[in-house]
Amino acid sequence: MRVLITGHRGYVGAHAVDVFKEAGHHVTGVDIALYRGTEFAQGRPPDVDVTIDIFDLGRGLFNGVDAVVHLAALSNDPLGDIDPRLTRTVNTDGTRYVADCAKRAGVGRFLLASSCSIYGAADCAAQDEDAPVAPITAYALSKVEAESALRRLASRNFAVVCLRCATAYGESPNLRTDLVVNNLLAHATSTGEVKLLSDGLARRPLIHCRDMARSFLGFAETASLTGFQAVNVGSNGENYRVRQVAEIVRREVPNSTITIDRGAVSDRRDYRVSFDRLGKCLPTFQCQHRVQPTVRRMHREFRANPTFRRDFEAGRFTRLVELQRRIAERTLPEYFLGGARDDGASGRGASR
Ligand SMILES: NC(=O)c1ccc[n+]([C@@H]2O[C@H](COP(=O)([O-])OP(=O)(O)OC[C@H]3O[C@@H](n4cnc5c(N)ncnc54)[C@H](O)[C@@H]3O)[C@@H](O)[C@H]2O)c1
Repeated sequence: MRVLITGHRGYVGAHAVDVFKEAGHHVTGVDIALYRGTEFAQGRPPDVDVTIDIFDLGRGLFNGVDAVVHLAALSNDPLGDIDPRLTRTVNTDGTRYVADCAKRAGVGRFLLASSCSIYGAADCAAQDEDAPVAPITAYALSKVEAESALRRLASRNFAVVCLRCATAYGESPNLRTDLVVNNLLAHATSTGEVKLLSDGLARRPLIHCRDMARSFLGFAETASLTGFQAVNVGSNGENYRVRQVAEIVRREVPNSTITIDRGAVSDRRDYRVSFDRLGKCLPTFQCQHRVQPTVRRMHREFRANPTFRRDFEAGRFTRLVELQRRIAERTLPEYFLGGARDDGASGRGASR
């Protein structure tokens, strides 16, 4: 199979390239390289590596492609808070543009990295795919709107799957420490403090970034796909409260203590998710990782890296910090440059 992966230089993208290549597929990677130079380790290159904005993609690159895995996005809530317009442009308009090019070029299937965050502040029940969406951030809204655009484009010959992924954690060559598990661990490794930025009561489904990548492979390889579907991606056993994650980190990092930031308020993003449909769509797919053993491995990995603390504190693995730096340097396309303001977010930060 020939697959085109957008956002292949990202946290999940590095695994996507690897799992598709491992399965014997031909991979073209397309990425504007927003976070070039912040890599944690060397990833596996795709067969064809194209450094380009998704809006500059022509139909040529889609010729002969069987499936598009669309990961390219501005991926997190603080980025969206700074400049909702930019998040919408890349995540919604960008998705529509890439899907439109793919469909015109005769690509058969389009897999979008959507997000469980579209469920927003949900009631106690586990949210399945038929639950109403309630986006409470610009990021979540951009994914809801991207899904709507794709629903209109989907057809018998252009199958669309929106994979509503849980929050990712785990090792990646393109590490992020602005995601909840990785952030709590990175902070604890650097300072001995497992620092909660909220009261920790919010519920959050989690998935290892490699399992997330494997789920895209699962849908790309599924024999019969047609029309539009949305599927939650994660596992029922990995719905946590943030406090439970903090406790796991505290146990793995010797002499660490849990602290709650003085300005902490409750996190409005609070949802538990049902992953039953995923089991029906991909009966042989199982998540292979869990939070606790991953935290143990990553803790070793962070400690073994002599520059980790400095890099983490400088914001090297925090998307918001890097993006703001590139915007200040004016080394991004024009549409990135209007409106984003520096709100002084720190490298330790900010997102999750
Ligand atoms: N990480 C998570 O917890 C999570 C959870 C659910 C869904 N998702 C979704 O999965 C996808 C991948 O997430 P990630 O954590 O790997 O994010 P990431 O920020 O690590 O990677 C995104 C990649 O997209 C590229 N990109 C951004 N804008 C682009 C543009 N205009 N043209 C070309 N390339 C562009 C960036 O350079 C980057 O390499 C995103 O769509 C995200 O919304 C992520």
